[in-house]
Order: sequence, then structure tokens, then C-alpha cells
Amino acid sequence: MEPLKAVADIGFTGRLATRYVVEHCATDLKWAVAGRSHAKLVALVEETKQLNVNREPVDVVIADSNDLEALSLLARATNVVVSFAGPFAKYSLIILY
Ligand SMILES: NC(=O)c1ccc[n+]([C@@H]2O[C@H](COP(=O)([O-])OP(=O)(O)OC[C@H]3O[C@@H](n4cnc5c(N)ncnc54)[C@H](OP(=O)(O)O)[C@@H]3O)[C@@H](O)[C@H]2O)c1
Repeated sequence: MEPLKAVADIGFTGRLATRYVVEHCATDLKWAVAGRSHAKLVALVEETKQLNVNREPVDVVIADSNDLEALSLLARATNVVVSFAGPFAKYSLIILY
């Protein structure tokens, strides 16, 4: 994986996972990146879109882990949520069905 210049202070693990999906997952996969900072998410999308020009830019969803309503909306809009918000000790206890 070629190193990319970071354009924002994006979470380390979430950034790696986003890069992996952009590079390796099927281009018809319906997915989005979520977080609490719109600016950081947009920067992440900008940074990673050059990794696979055949993929449409990914959607951005605003959801703070402390906002249960936003998390609930996020969970209802998809089948799978993979969280890289950290530290895990702080954010791993909330499970939404
Ligand atoms: N780094 C590793 O090699 C590694 C390996 C295995 C597991 N982990 C675990 O993965 C987790 C993240 O590690 P990291 O190194 O990627 O940390 P990091 O670079 O500090 O990233 C943390 C991420 O969590 C987000 N976040 C924090 N509070 C949030 C909230 N209330 N709502 C939404 N997003 C929130 C941050 O978003 P903002 O940018 O908005 O602050 C940031 O994107 C940790 O629990 C760590 O133990 C890390």
C-alpha cells in the first residue's frame, strides 16, 4: 500500500480500514464513512478516492458516539456497522439493535 499524505487528523485505524475498502472491496458495495467531523470525513474521502478511480466517492454520515439518536439512525440505515472510534474502553459498550 503506497503511503498517502494525510490531509487531516483522521483516526489511524479508521483511515486504514477506509483505504482497504476503497482499494480491495467490490465497487458496487453500498457503504459510507461515519464520524463526528464532517470536515475530516470529507478530507478522508478526498484522500482515498485516488486509490481506486473506478469507485464512486463514498457517502459521508455524521454520527457522534455520544449521540444515541444519531447512532440509532445510522444503525437502522445499514446492515453492518464497523466501529473504529476509540478508545475502545470508552466506546465499545453501546450496542444498538
Ligand atoms: N492504532 C492501532 O494500531 C490499533 C490497533 C488495534 C486496535 N486499535 C484500537 O482502535 C481504536 C482507535 O485507535 P486509533 O489508533 O485509530 O485512534 P485514533 O487515531 O485516536 O482515532 C480515534 C478515532 O475515534 C474517533 N472518535 C473519538 N471519539 C468519538 C466520538 N465521540 N464519536 C465519533 N468518533 C469518535 C476520532 O474521531 P475525531 O477525529 O472526530 O476525533 C478518531 O477518528 C482504539 O480503541 C485502539 O485501541 C488501534
